[in-house]
Amino acid sequence: METNEAKKRIEELRDILNKANYDYYVMDNPTITDQEFDKYLRELENLENEFPEYDSATSPTKKVGGQVIDRFKKVRHKIPMLSLPDVFDMTEIEDFNTRIIKEDVKPVYVCEYKIDGLSVSLHYEKGHLIFAATRGDGITGEDITHNVKTIKSVPLTINKPIDIEVRGEIYMPKKVLAELNEKRKMDNLPLLQNVRNAAAGSIRQLDSKIAAERKLDTWIYHLPNPEDYGINTHEEALQFMSELGFKVNTKANRVVSGIKEMEAYIKETTEKRATLPYEIDGIVIKVNSLSSQSKLGFTSKYPKWAIAYKFPAEEVLTTLRDIVFTVGRTGRITPNAVLDPVIVMGSTVKRATLHNEDYVLMKDLKIGDVVSIRKAGDVIPEVVEAKLERRNGTEKDFEMITNCPICGSVLEHKKDQVDHYCMNPSCPARKSEALIHFCSRKAMNIDGLGIEIMEDFFNLGFVTQIPDIYHLKAHKKDLIELEGYGNKSVDNLLAAIEDSKSNSLERLLFGLGISGIGDKTALLLVKIFKNVDNLMNASYDDFKNIKDIGPTLAENLYNFFHEPEHLALLKKLKELGVNMNYLGENERHHDLISGKRFVLTGTLSFTDRDALSELLTSYGGATSSSVSKKTDVVIVGENPGSKFEKARELNIEIWDEEKIKSIVDTL
Ligand code: IVH
Repeated sequence: METNEAKKRIEELRDILNKANYDYYVMDNPTITDQEFDKYLRELENLENEFPEYDSATSPTKKVGGQVIDRFKKVRHKIPMLSLPDVFDMTEIEDFNTRIIKEDVKPVYVCEYKIDGLSVSLHYEKGHLIFAATRGDGITGEDITHNVKTIKSVPLTINKPIDIEVRGEIYMPKKVLAELNEKRKMDNLPLLQNVRNAAAGSIRQLDSKIAAERKLDTWIYHLPNPEDYGINTHEEALQFMSELGFKVNTKANRVVSGIKEMEAYIKETTEKRATLPYEIDGIVIKVNSLSSQSKLGFTSKYPKWAIAYKFPAEEVLTTLRDIVFTVGRTGRITPNAVLDPVIVMGSTVKRATLHNEDYVLMKDLKIGDVVSIRKAGDVIPEVVEAKLERRNGTEKDFEMITNCPICGSVLEHKKDQVDHYCMNPSCPARKSEALIHFCSRKAMNIDGLGIEIMEDFFNLGFVTQIPDIYHLKAHKKDLIELEGYGNKSVDNLLAAIEDSKSNSLERLLFGLGISGIGDKTALLLVKIFKNVDNLMNASYDDFKNIKDIGPTLAENLYNFFHEPEHLALLKKLKELGVNMNYLGENERHHDLISGKRFVLTGTLSFTDRDALSELLTSYGGATSSSVSKKTDVVIVGENPGSKFEKARELNIEIWDEEKIKSIVDTL
């Protein structure tokens, strides 16, 4: 193809794809099929590869992710990104309205949903997205362009070749969080508590592939420089941004006059809230006239022309029908509330954990009680309290069990412990939990063998002990016939099982579930012992002499590798082809990091704790959550907790933000 012709076709394809993205993700109205989209996208990718002189940072090919950054750059906001004062009831809203009228401002407002996510500032030059930043502390945010580019509703090129900044909210749709948590449950990872944290966590990834997978979305609601575009009202600003191609919540936003219309909007929205595909945590009320906004001005923290009405946390009443007990991998017994199903914040709640005996006694729960339920952190259901005034005398006292509900063996309850334990190592419940642990992400990482499937396989007798996992291929036909498992998913599962055989030894060691051996200790051990034979031949002292291994762990390890049942298991796994050696890793080295133990406390403005912890680990450092004599360095951010005090008490080296940043900058 001629260069000129290529250029023309590239532009044509970009227009087609930009429009298709807009129709699909902003207008929610697809105009071409996925196949057509993919075809055009591939054609464009090929042309951009062939004619790199026409490549562009804002080409729709850049939406798929892949860019990885090594740290978040700071960005100073030209106009501060302010937050809004919260109000909680109609009286406070009326006070706001009275204040507005007193200032001689017409009480005409725009009511909008308060989207539960994180705010973002998008900057365009000549119509192209040049960078995107988080709010940060309002003055300085972080450059998150690489991740924002992957959000489908964010246009990389807008409909006018102008310079502009717009602001809005990045959010994670409810369904995406539910799917993500489903997957995390299968991987035995802690669930993400709410859409806000999930969205923020996704945006704070260095690798944009992860953000791209998280299917984030946006609503744009603020134009910081309306005067540049001859705009007089907030309503016009919203319309203008929508015409430029941004996703503006036109259906939800409403111009209202006075308190009555505001109240009606709040009532309607409160009723609609649970049915929305995204979370809102309140309603934002903004004075519509921009000249009135200027007249009202700002305090140091807030605009005086807007408020955020926050919904009260939803609590729902239901009946506590029963308290049932489950047994974990370690034998720990958990009481669980069985509830008459109720809908709380859009999803049905039937069960809630009651943690342990003391928790139930503290809340004075009786079976048959009317109880109030809410979602702690918006996701995990929690029993708040029993409604004592609703008791009628038929309620039954809670009684802690004395025997394991599965195998019947007597439970152990040590004096200084809150938890009860089933001590029978062959208890089927413990066994099935142990199998789930073996397959989990940090252990053998067998994708597809999550909690539910494993429970099915266990109950069907396909997998009752670890080696059975590696015999599952013999049941391939049965598996395919099982409800819900297709040919392809069975193939994928069997492939994942085969792949797990070549894992490095630390995964197997962690997966075996030796009491007290977490993934980090497992790695430490295999680095020293290199293979299973050496672990089997190690003495108690060999274990105890390791820096981070105390007498209890040493005893657990020694006993584990001397119990015939475990030795037989390891022999079987070896025969099945499971790798028994430490395969090493591409460990990076840094004199100030490698081999040191870090504790992080407080907030760092240039990165978050998880990302930093990952970085330190990748350089052979270790992180832990509490300060002890073994800690080498405590990294202290803003508003540090008691760990900072403790570090000073113990005379442990302290790095402030500047120091760690200067090291990170050189990595
Ligand atoms: S306007 C100067 N509108 O709520 C006005 N904020 O509590 C700036 N938010 O930081 C904000 N939905 O992250 C505005 N429709 C909406 C909003 C909204 C959610 C967030 C935003 C802001 C926080 C303030």
